[in-house]
Parts: sequence; C-alpha cells; structure tokens
Amino acid sequence: MRAKSIALLAAFAVLLAASSGSAQTIDWCDDGTDAATSGTVYEAYYVQETCIPLCVKKSTNTSYDGNLAIDKVTVESPGVYPTGAVFDYPYDEINFPASGVLKTVAGYSDTDPFKRDYCFTPQHGEECVYTTCFKGADGDSSSSATSVRCYKIEVYNSALEFTGTEEASSDDLSKEVGPNDGFSMATWVYPTCSSAGNQTVMYFGSTRDFSTSLGTDKGLQVRNAIKYSTDSSGESTFFYYDDYVGAVFADNKYCCGKWHYVGISVGADNKAFLFVDGGVAKSQVTGSRNTIKFDVKAFQTASRPDNNLDGDGQGTFKVGHYAGEGFKGIVDEVSVFDRALTSTEMHSNMEKRDLAGSEGLKGYFTMTGAFPIASQAGSSTLTASVGTPAKVKKAIPTMIPCVLGLQHSVGPSDGSCPTDVYGWSMSDGLAPVCSFGGRVIQGTYVDDKTIKCETPGHVSPRYVNVLASNDAGTQFTTSLVGKEVKHLYMESSLYVDGNGGGAEADSVCKDLPTRAVTFGGWFCPKCGPPASS
Ligand SMILES: *[C@@H]1O[C@H](CO)[C@@H](O)[C@H](O)[C@H]1NC(C)=O
Ligand SMILES: *[C@@H]1O[C@H](CO)[C@@H](O)[C@H](O)[C@H]1NC(C)=O
Repeated sequence: MRAKSIALLAAFAVLLAASSGSAQTIDWCDDGTDAATSGTVYEAYYVQETCIPLCVKKSTNTSYDGNLAIDKVTVESPGVYPTGAVFDYPYDEINFPASGVLKTVAGYSDTDPFKRDYCFTPQHGEECVYTTCFKGADGDSSSSATSVRCYKIEVYNSALEFTGTEEASSDDLSKEVGPNDGFSMATWVYPTCSSAGNQTVMYFGSTRDFSTSLGTDKGLQVRNAIKYSTDSSGESTFFYYDDYVGAVFADNKYCCGKWHYVGISVGADNKAFLFVDGGVAKSQVTGSRNTIKFDVKAFQTASRPDNNLDGDGQGTFKVGHYAGEGFKGIVDEVSVFDRALTSTEMHSNMEKRDLAGSEGLKGYFTMTGAFPIASQAGSSTLTASVGTPAKVKKAIPTMIPCVLGLQHSVGPSDGSCPTDVYGWSMSDGLAPVCSFGGRVIQGTYVDDKTIKCETPGHVSPRYVNVLASNDAGTQFTTSLVGKEVKHLYMESSLYVDGNGGGAEADSVCKDLPTRAVTFGGWFCPKCGPPASS
C-alpha cells in the first residue's frame, strides 16, 4: 500500500516537471553525425583542415535560443575522461593545438540543439598529437553541464613507399619546365636496405626515337635521373645519370635506412650539380666535430627534360621506377623548379617544411591525398602508373617534433642519464637532437615517437624544459602544441629504507683532530623509493 503511493507520487512529479519544462537537462546530441562519439581518434595532415562535430541539446526546438554553449575543458580532473576513451601515457594530458578553433555551424548559432565544429588545420610546429576535451554548458543553469567528451587528434605526414615494382608519374610536368633557364628537382628519400644494384629515385625521360635533320633522336629515355646505387660490399651512394654524360657519383657514401635530401640543378649554361644532404658544412650539435656528411658534386650536361614543345607528348616525369632498376624505399616532398637553384637555395629548401609559393616552383608533390596526387604548385598531378605505391605515415626531417614525456623525468645534475624522450613527428634523419634547458645534445632516433638522448650534465639542480629537433636544432619543439615536458635535475643522494643499506665512512674520524665536531645534511623523510634505472 505504502510503496504504491510513493510510485504514484513519483509519476505525478515527472508529469509536473514535463509540463513546466523546468526539468530539461542538457546533454550531448545523438552520436554519429551530430556529435562525435567520445574517444574518436582523428587523423590530420599538414595544412589540411580536420573538424570534430560537437552538439549539445536541451530540447529539439531549433528556433529556440537554449542559451547553450560548448566549452573547451583545459585542465584534467581525474575521472572526467569518459569510459571507453583510452588516452594512455604519453597522451594522457589535455593539450589543444594553438590554431584549433570552435567554429559556428551555419544555422545553429544560438539554437537548441546547439552545434559547433572544432576545426584544426595543422601549421608548421603543430604536427603533434592532441587530447582535446569539451563540455556543454547551460547558460540558464550554472549547475547544469554535460559530461566531458575527449577526442584525440593525431597529425601525420604522408609519403609514398616503393618496393621496386611500382611507379608514379606525371605526363604534364615536363611541359611546365621550359628549356631556357635550366631546371632543378629535389626530394626527401629513404632507401630501405636491400641487395646490390641500381635504383631509380626519379627522372625526366622521353620516348622520342625518330629521325631529325641532326640524326636519329634516340637513346633519351633517361634525360635527367637521380639514382641510388648499392655495391656488393653493401655501401651505397646517390648518383646522377643522363644519356649524354652517363653517371656522376656523389663523393660520399649515404646509408640506407635514413632520410636523405637529394637534388640536382642544371643551369642554362649547362653547369650542374648533384646535391645530397646539404650545401654547407654543418655540425650535428653546434660546436661539435660531428659534422653532417654532404655532397655538392659539380658536372656539366646539355640534357634537359623533354618539354613537349613539339606537342608530341613524349616527355615524362617518373618516380620510383625504371625497368630493372626500381626503387625500394620511401619518397616525399618531390619539388621541381623551371630554373636552376644555387646550392645555398637548395640547402635552404632542405630546411623548409613548405616550399609552396617559391619562385619557379612548377611541381610540388607532398604525397597527401589519394591518387592522382595533386601538385601544390602548377597544374600537374602524379598518377600511379605501374602498380600502386603505398601511402605510408612517416615523419620527415623538416617536421618539428613535439615532446610528450620522458623515460626519466628526474636525473642527476651531473648528467649522463640515458633517457628516452617520447614525442611525435620524430624523424629518422641525420641529426636528431634534444635540448635540456637550452643545452643541446645529440640524440639517436628510435622510432617516430622516441629519440634516445643522454642528459647533459654539470648543471645546478633545477627544473628544465625538454625539447626535440629533427634537424640539428635548426627547429625545436614549439609552444604551439599545448604541452611542456620538464626534466628535474637533482643532486645525487643516498636512499635508505630502514631495512639496512646506508653507507659509512669511518675513516672520516681520522680527519677530525679535535673532539669538537659539527655535522648536518639534507634529508628527505618518506621520499622515494627512487625510480630504478
Ligand atoms: C520553439 O521555440 C520558439 C521560441 O522560443 C517558440 O516560439 C515555439 O513555440 C517553440 N516551438 C515548439 C514546438 O515548442
Ligand atoms: C649502375 O649504374 C652505373 C652507371 O650507369 C653502372 O656503371 C653500373 O654498372 C650499374 N650497376 C649495375 C649493378 O647495374
């Protein structure tokens, strides 16, 4: 009897609340298209916009100003992460990219449901991973808010991978390269380690093979090529090849399994050079004698891309393939200019994340998006012409890595503590470095999320920022990634747990000639135990 009346009362209360409208609570809209499911991981790419749809509601009356808002949640409070969303270390803190914005969705500026898009177009220095969290708020009731929803955004770089049998090509690019002012081309290339032989990274070629007044115009299948050669002892290097001058080898050896920047430039006067990894001597860490190997190898050639002025359409530009000499490895950021570049210009291009807008740039393939891949300059495209080169996610040395965590966030002030520095966009290039409080130290690439560095020492105990760089410190982790990682330098100390251990120095008595003695020290009761290392 009693139970029944309570149930009746409850039903009445619900009825009352519904009719007055006062019991409306704010909540997320339906999952899927209106509001992204909590925990969704988004992929983003350099200078391409990625948006996360967000939507909260009280009623479903779109002509009604529900006084709603969607706010960024910027500070972690334990337990707010929604169940199902896994954000394991080192992605366990909320960090928003500097250029991310909450955008009004057309037709939903002050409505109920209330929609916003969180949009992010990664800029240079923002190619990191983010944990972005949001909450819906009701302006009519300060106590009413939705649950917190978090989304992960991972910024990747896309590159083309070849296994020796695929080819990407552009029939139109050679039309854009005029024969008068010389030309140049360059690319990032990551040769995988393979057996002896020649491989073709990229080349301008032609299928012309007919009689002219000067004789038979043939043998020009390869007009200007960048190739990679591995000898029987396993040593490798880059070389230039064309039908006029034959092969021009770089002086140095260049290992497989690392990114290299390779290019050629041919002037109107036929003066040319093959460029590998730099135009000027550079140290891995400023002031050190560990220098980065490079080549600017001069030669002369009259060979030029077949620019199809005669309209026969026989000029081609190919990446990754030449019969029997296909490329095995990864290629990215192919650039072609219709003018000669100086080695200084090419060196400066090697250090730039983005070449778009450069004078004379006619082809620029950053390998983002599906085939046919658009050029970021001029009008040509790159098609998969033999097989289909795979799209792979791999950081290149011009990206700025971000630091997200440390293996040892506490270390001795005398340094020399080998530490894995965790992050994102770390690249398998020639000069990864770390910075501990502005002291730069050479690192070793482990994977795209880890560089191993030994902490620099001889500093007083302090808290320092840890940064990383892919290019010998030319560009370090920026503040655009919303996260700072600090290393704590501590003096060495002795840890005892009360069960033995400790240390003694009996002979110190011999240094105390009188009976008077004073002693003291720094003690940290209940500290530790220290991280094992
Ligand atoms: C929707 O909201 C508007 C503005 O408050 C109001 O005039 C209208 O009656 C509401 N419509 C419904 C179906 O509740
Ligand atoms: C690679 O190319 C160079 C230059 O054309 C040539 O001398 C050499 O014989 C080639 N090596 C192989 C294994 O084909």
